[in-house]
Formats: sequence, C-alpha cells, structure tokens
Amino acid sequence: MSKNIESTLVENRIFKPSKEFSKKARIGSMAQYQKMWKESVEKPEKFFAREAAELCWQKKWTKVLDWKCPYAKWFVGGKLNVSENCLDRHLDGPRKTKAAIIWEGEPGEKRVLTYQQLHREVCRFANVLKRNGAKKGTRVIIYMPMVPEAAVAMLACARIGAMHSVIFGGFSAESIKDRALDSGATIIVTADGGYRRGAVVALKKNVDDALKAKDTSVKRVIVFKRTGQDVHIEEGRDVWWHRELEYVDANCPAVALDSETPLFILYTSGSTGKPKGILHTTGGYLLHAYMTCKYVFDLRDEDVYWCTADVGWVTGHSYMVYGPLAMGATSLMYEGAPNWPENDRFWNIIEEYGVSVFYTAPTAIRAFMKWGDQWVKKHDLSSLRLLGTVGEPINPEAWMWYHRVIGGSRCPIVDTWWQTETGGHMITPIPGAIPTKPGTATLPFFGVDAAVVDDNGKELGANQGGKLVIRKPWPSMLRGIWGDKARYKETYWSEFKGYYLAGDGARRDKDGYIWIVGRIDDVLNVAGHRLGTAEVESALVSHPSVAEAAVVGKPDELKGQAVVCFVTVKTGKIANKELAADLKKHVRTVIGPVATPDEIRFTDALPKTRSGKIMRRLLKQVAAGEIIKGDTTTLEDLSVLAKLATAED
Ligand code: WT7
Repeated sequence: MSKNIESTLVENRIFKPSKEFSKKARIGSMAQYQKMWKESVEKPEKFFAREAAELCWQKKWTKVLDWKCPYAKWFVGGKLNVSENCLDRHLDGPRKTKAAIIWEGEPGEKRVLTYQQLHREVCRFANVLKRNGAKKGTRVIIYMPMVPEAAVAMLACARIGAMHSVIFGGFSAESIKDRALDSGATIIVTADGGYRRGAVVALKKNVDDALKAKDTSVKRVIVFKRTGQDVHIEEGRDVWWHRELEYVDANCPAVALDSETPLFILYTSGSTGKPKGILHTTGGYLLHAYMTCKYVFDLRDEDVYWCTADVGWVTGHSYMVYGPLAMGATSLMYEGAPNWPENDRFWNIIEEYGVSVFYTAPTAIRAFMKWGDQWVKKHDLSSLRLLGTVGEPINPEAWMWYHRVIGGSRCPIVDTWWQTETGGHMITPIPGAIPTKPGTATLPFFGVDAAVVDDNGKELGANQGGKLVIRKPWPSMLRGIWGDKARYKETYWSEFKGYYLAGDGARRDKDGYIWIVGRIDDVLNVAGHRLGTAEVESALVSHPSVAEAAVVGKPDELKGQAVVCFVTVKTGKIANKELAADLKKHVRTVIGPVATPDEIRFTDALPKTRSGKIMRRLLKQVAAGEIIKGDTTTLEDLSVLAKLATAED
C-alpha cells in the first residue's frame, strides 16, 4: 500500500458537497452532522432509540444497550423480524408494486421483482426450508450465483429465524466443507451453476465434492436451476428448488425474534489458517444497515441503487439485500463480470436502468481506468447522483478518475471504511455534509468512536501513524466468532482494554479525517477481498512437494495487493515451472480461485530470526523488488537473503 500513501500526499484538493446536493440531502451541513454525531456518542441510547423507532418492532425493547465488554446486546427485550422489515411493511402503500430487485443475468436475461412478488417468493421459499427441516437456529449454507433467489434464500432464513452462512462462489469444495463443519449447517442451498465471464461455474459439483466424505452434518441440498447443465442428484439428500415449491403455499408469517437472535454467520480470513465465522444478530445489524443506507447513500424512493458486490461478501449482505430493502429502495443485481461481453457492461447497465447511486470497489475502478474512457463515453451516465467505494484504500488517481469520468464531476463520492466484523459503514463521508478529500474515508459515522492509537493505546496527534480502534460498542458490531469465544476476545479485544482493534493502520490529519493505510496483521487485501497469508501457507504445505512456505503481499496496480509465495521444496523434489503451476492449481483447489497465487518463488531457505520466526517484513521487500532495508541483525543466515532476491519461478 506504500504507493497509496505517497500519492495521497500529492493530491490535496477538497471537494465540498454542492449546494444542490446538500439542499436535498437528509443531512445538509457539517454542523448538522457534528451535532448528530456528538449526540450519537454521548447519548447513544437516546440517539439509537429514535432511529430504531423507524423500524417495525413486534415488541418494543426495554433497554437500548447492555454492554459488558466485549459483549453487547442492543434493544434488549425487543422483538422484530428482518424479513418483515425488508418486505411486509412496504406492502401497505405504493411500494407494493415498486421494484425491489432489478436483476440482469450475465447472458442478458432481465427480471424485476416488485416488493409484493419478492415477499411472495420469500414466503414460499421459507415454507420450503421448513419442509426440509429448517427451524429457528438451523444453519443454512447459501452457495449461489448472483440471482434473485440468493436474496430470497437469505430473507427466507431470516423470516423463520434460521441463520444463513453465504459462501462466495469463488470458494472451493474444501472451503465449503470447512465452513459446513464449523457452522454445523444441515441444509445447503445452491444452484446447478452460474455464469461468469461467459463460462459456467459448477456450483453443484463443488457442493457434491464438499459432501463426499459424508463427515458434515448436511442432510439436505436444495438446488436452484439456473444454467440447466447436467448435475448429479443424490437421492434422499438433494431436491430441486422448483419442485419443492409445488408443495408449499405463500403463507408464512414472519416469526417475532428477539433482537439478539443470530441472523447470519459470514466467514472471513484472519491471521491464522482457519477462517473466522463472524456472527451478526438481528436488531442492531438491521438498524445500522438501514441507517447507513439512509444517511450515507441518502437513498430515495426514486433511486435506482446498484451495489456491484457479490452476495457472498458482507457488502452484498448489508448493501445489496438488507439495507436497501429495509429502506424500501430498488436494488439492482447483476450476475456476471464487468467485462462481459465487453468492457462497457456496467455503463450499459447504468444507462439502461437509470442507476442513480452506484457502489463499487477501488480494484474495479482501477480496471475501468485501464480499459479506457472510451468505454464509458459510449454511454449516458447522467442518471448518476452519488458514487461509493469500499474494500480497500482508494488511491487518489482512481478517486479522481471515478469523480471525473463516471461521476461527470458532479457526484459526491462516499469512500466507506468498514469490515465484515462491523456489519456496516464505520468511517465515511455523509455526502451532503462532509467535504471529501481523495483517498480518505473522512469521519466516523454516528455512534462510532474511532481513534488512532499508539502501541500503548494512547491517542495519537495529527498525522501520526498508528492503529485504528473503536472505543464504544455500535449496533451492528459482530457478536462473536462462531464457536470460538477465546478467539473473539483475543483477536479484537486483547490488545487494548475496552477497545475494538480493527486490524488496520491509520492516521488522522489535522481536520480529524482518518486515512486508512492498510492491514497491520497477516491479512492481505487482494482485489478488495480479504485473504489470510496463513491460509495460503497451509494450503501450500499440504502439497506433497512443499516443505515450507511464506506468503506475502506485493503492491499491485490493479488488485492493490498480489499474492507472492516463497516456497522451499522437500528434499528430492524438483522446483520448476511445472511445480509452480501445480502449486497455483493446488491453492485454487484447497481455498478457491479467490486465493490464486500470482507468483511462486522457490528458494532454498526462508529468512528467519534466531528464534525461528519467518521475517515477513524482509520477504515483503523482496517481493516488491525493493532494496532490503531495516534491521537484519536478527536474521539467522544472511546468505538466505542474497539468494532470495534472485529467486524466481
Ligand atoms: C478490510 C475489511 C467492508 C466490506 C468489504 C471488505 C479494508 C475496507 C476500506 C476503505 C480503506 C478499506 C480494510 C478493512 N477496507 N474498506 N474504504 N478504505 N480500507 O470487507 O473483507 O471484511 O475487509 O478491508 O483493511 O479492515 P472485509
């Protein structure tokens, strides 16, 4: 990320919200933002009670917050249902016939589901889930392409109090199996396949492979027919989605659930080889997703809102499904790749549907930049009024291009910093109020008490680099790591007493704006996706030829970070191009295409300290082609370094 920091120093323009935008916005001035923020952190119970009153509760809470660090309960005693908030409550008025989801398949099919239709589909599928044994608390894995049925399955779980765990389609059979084992899921909802860049992804086949050893608790697989390709149907275990619908009606009341009822588990990478099942619950999560759509995207009934994230990531959960639907907004969903059949697919979609709010990732923006302005210029993007980014620090060049070429120099950009763990936006501009500077997510959202601290937990002064922490609980904070209390405490709450440790490095400038520098733990951010170096390392050493492996990130123009693997082979094994190719394939098989290494570098030894710890700092420098800097005096064998600098695959 060093490139980003350097370039942030040269771009120092400030972009004030236009009068026109501010006039219409829910929060139209800095003073109003500041007043609300102050109340939200000083009197959170009052502030959030007022906001929560906009949701529909089957029973009102008795206490807004119960905080026993690190465990928070929000809206204690309150009962509500997420699917009722996203669907039923919009059916009394004109939203009944409004588009809830506008969908476009990669091959070009188009579907619109109104709130009434989506409600009906969710009720029917909730009955299918019940018919197949789902109850309150059942874990349901959803491994689907980007089709409306993915959202239907999520909302159907929410309707009956089952928990979903969505797995991104770019994860392998082994990853599905690990998640099934860890979550104790009994049902998997999948599809025969999905389309991606003109090819078919064999989703059902991956599920079959995941269940082959029969060691998971999965009893039922519900298969949605998307591509029509041939798939194996295991008698007694697998059923077709469309067939199941024949047995159910559309009558399914939304169960009143305690505010702290688990809503979903979403696995994400950490600094060990085992992904963490991040747990989110009902009331607080929904409120934060709703509030951020209201204040950050400033969503309106007339907006066509498009978040390009896959439903398999938290962005797809909070900002394609739950937040926008709770707002009664129109959420666009596109199944495939941005460059299929050509590089202007996204601009084509924006023009065709009149998209007004567009939310994507810096890595995508950098790819669009590279493909060239001509693809954008072919289309009328004048419907856009607000742009957003998420996933990694955005370099100011990409910000400026997004602003100028996509936003026609008229749309504010909200650079939203948050994490799977935080459930929703944490540091972000409020578009009608906060002036933006390219490269910074600006100021904390309501209720968020963010700070940059030194190693002793002391808040740092302007422009001093340190660790990003959150000093107060917020409604959509994770409630734990599924099945691992100790890891929850250890990872997030042990370094500084009472503070949530985000795992990012940051600095605050003289205006209090927070500049995120990147991860400070052994987690990479590859094209906006989180990847644990330890995960890739353990995949590599599971290969019969590998003795040791160390994985680091290397700055990459498009992806932010590229995955570089330093590998030593076992005695008698030959390190050559074929093995390098085989290792890349092996990592794809073990974790999935998301984790494909960019480079394999063979070496005789890895640089280690005298106590045997791999010196990643050095490896990072070697990977980036930098001259080795800093202290190497603890290095076990200096000759290792000299060799590394020349190692190639
Ligand atoms: C990590 C979280 C939140 C949904 C997508 C990723 C990085 C995220 C930004 C941003 C700088 C960002 C951080 C964070 N990150 N958004 N706007 N500016 N960095 O979710 O997989 O949980 O990853 O992504 O490093 O810790 P995630």
